[in-house]
Amino acid sequence: MHKSALRKKFYAIRKQTAAHATNAAKEAVSQLSAHALFANSHHIACYLAFRDEIDTLPLIRAIWQSNKICYLPILQTTRALKFAQYHEGDLLKPNQFSILEPENNASMIDPMRLDLVIMPLVAYDKTGNRLGTGGGYYDRTFAFKKTHPHQKPCLLGFTYASQEAMGLPHDPWDILLDGVVTEKTVHLFNRSATFRSPPP
Ligand SMILES: Nc1ncnc2c1ncn2[C@@H]1O[C@H](COP(=O)(O)OP(=O)(O)OP(=O)(O)O)[C@@H](O)[C@H]1O
Ligand SMILES: [Mg+2]
Repeated sequence: MHKSALRKKFYAIRKQTAAHATNAAKEAVSQLSAHALFANSHHIACYLAFRDEIDTLPLIRAIWQSNKICYLPILQTTRALKFAQYHEGDLLKPNQFSILEPENNASMIDPMRLDLVIMPLVAYDKTGNRLGTGGGYYDRTFAFKKTHPHQKPCLLGFTYASQEAMGLPHDPWDILLDGVVTEKTVHLFNRSATFRSPPP
């Protein structure tokens, strides 16, 4: 199946799941916050849920409560992402897709300096392939991971277990997930347990 047909299929599955999944977001946060990857990460990028995506607010609260720094993506006209700090109470403003973003004057971080990136997805498979909404934003932003898969940040999908596909098509620009967090488990695909910092 092509990406567009798979998106349709997994959008429908996600809608069904979201209608019944009351505790999934909290359970996914329990899975992640008990993991060494979370304990060892200080600069963590997350996203705000859109449509039927799993709620990320419990995770954002957990990041704040652990005295870690939370970042949210800001879409660029280059169709890549920048990441800005997000603190409790900060004002957010909607972008062209009505997704809330930090103000442009918030403190930014070089994506290579992030420790962990919590990524939205429509579907994933057991080898770490990721199907997103089709803009290629995350692929562009983390293109350096293609040649440096063991370099920071660790890229983790955050979604319902129902979004696992038997196998996904992938294009040359697609960046692999290092792992996925669901209400059931934290599953790492990348054998690297630690992610190196980029050269200075
Ligand atoms: N590194 C890149 N350089 C140039 N174009 C890119 C790059 N990465 C992705 N693209 C473009 O982005 C488009 C969408 O890619 P893709 O279908 O993989 O999106 P996606 O991974 O599902 O979306 P997203 O990451 O935004 O959720 C592709 O048509 C591709 O041309
Ligand atoms: Mg892609």
